[in-house]
Amino acid sequence: MPTAGRDSWASRIGIIMAVAGSAIGLGNFLRFPAKAAANGGGAFMIPYLAALLLLGLPLMWVEWTLGRYGGGFGHGTAPGIFHSLWRKNRFIKYFGVIGIFGPLVIFIYYAYIESWTLAYSFFSLTGRLSAVTDQQGMQSFLRGYQGLEANSFFTSIWPAYLFFVVTFFINFTVTWHGIKGGVERVCRIAVPVLFACALILMLRVLTLGTPNPAEPSWSISNGFGFLWNPDFSTLRSGKIWIEAAGQIFFTLSVGIGAILTYASYLSKGDDVTLSGLSATSMNETAEVILGASIIIPAAFVFFGPDNVRAIAESGVFNLGFVTMPLILNQLVFPGFFGFLWFFLLFLAGVTSSVSLVQPAIAFLEDEFQIGRKKAVWIFGSFAFVLCHFPVFLLRHGVVDELDFWGGTFFLVVFATIEVILFAWVFGIHNAWDEMHRGADLRVPVIYKFIIKYVTPLFLLVILSVWLWQEWMPVILMENVGAEDAPYVLGTRIVLALLLTVLGIAVKLAWRRRRARGEDVHAA
Ligand code: ALA
Repeated sequence: MPTAGRDSWASRIGIIMAVAGSAIGLGNFLRFPAKAAANGGGAFMIPYLAALLLLGLPLMWVEWTLGRYGGGFGHGTAPGIFHSLWRKNRFIKYFGVIGIFGPLVIFIYYAYIESWTLAYSFFSLTGRLSAVTDQQGMQSFLRGYQGLEANSFFTSIWPAYLFFVVTFFINFTVTWHGIKGGVERVCRIAVPVLFACALILMLRVLTLGTPNPAEPSWSISNGFGFLWNPDFSTLRSGKIWIEAAGQIFFTLSVGIGAILTYASYLSKGDDVTLSGLSATSMNETAEVILGASIIIPAAFVFFGPDNVRAIAESGVFNLGFVTMPLILNQLVFPGFFGFLWFFLLFLAGVTSSVSLVQPAIAFLEDEFQIGRKKAVWIFGSFAFVLCHFPVFLLRHGVVDELDFWGGTFFLVVFATIEVILFAWVFGIHNAWDEMHRGADLRVPVIYKFIIKYVTPLFLLVILSVWLWQEWMPVILMENVGAEDAPYVLGTRIVLALLLTVLGIAVKLAWRRRRARGEDVHAA
């Protein structure tokens, strides 16, 4: 088996931290509380838990198992892993291209947003952010920083560009040092530090009391009530079920391809069931306990119930980069708490983004036998060029477009393909045995049924509803303004080219494989 020379994890806790780090991100601290507040509060937890148990957790186990299985054949990415599962099918490896394309597309914009959190950590420490006192000022600060307007805070986009370059460099430095020497070492420190930052912020929010004496009902306990009191009538709307499933995908990082690659560095006898469950539990703790206890309850005590809903619906960027700094500025030591908040987001971002670059690097290493450092250079240069699109074209809807294809649509498509391959092509009995090889936890047998029928069906329903409701408006760009249309179209052309290039790369890799006498069934 050509696995010799592949990198590996140094410890079990290392891979659990790395997968948890990949999962815990901006989604936990911004997206989840906003979604819950806007979708029926406590009632949101019903579809959320259903999606966690029927989609998230099974997909987590599927990806850990498939990754470890593929790694045994020297494959760390979906083209090779899918091919190992279904050798007789010469086309299946091309579907695996999505598992490299998706994380790359997310990385292109994620790295830029991550760089804002680094910049805002810096501005908190220097006191620049705490000098801004009102909503309009904070909004201008953000717009000025993003290069959307020249104002008294910023006259150009260059500070943002500088922080982007630094963030990019940090990501690729981690990757340069490999799985054991880079990702594992960083995540073993960053994930606990991130938890500590979130815990301190949560405790601070819990002790806010009723800071506005004129509004005695704006108390912290009512803030929690606002978030968690269920409005069961929302459950009748299909939207809440789709939103909850989308959140589970996003937060757990399943359907992306990153966990497959991480798991490919496991050894054959390493446990995947308990480890997968542990990483999932860490993510859920960070999301439902810590994430939900910071921003929305804090916004409630300072802005009151009428404004919080509007704030929650105003989008994740507004919530994190406008509302939260305004809240923190009202505390004693605003610089310290501001730093804590943005540094928490930065650590959550870095541990997610390093997992997003891993599949492309592993593809070059495994399928083209390119050394890690050379692979980092090749892919790093390519990714650096692509990252310029969101930096300079933010105002034209490029980030939303990348997020729709990379972070939403292809995620569900990829998850559907992998679970069907796992349960139906590989066969649920083989799959179950493979999952339990070296397992420290026996998964309840009901999951055999769930993985075979419920998860694929759930995914197919989501996909069908999506196609039915959204496909035409998306294709015809009905919700895109005339000014942005050329940029959105341009983004789609670039993405189509990217998919084509990756498809050609897979073809070339398999041709070389055949020339070396491997994989006789490959085309
Ligand atoms: N899972 C990552 C997040 O929640 C992408 O941000």
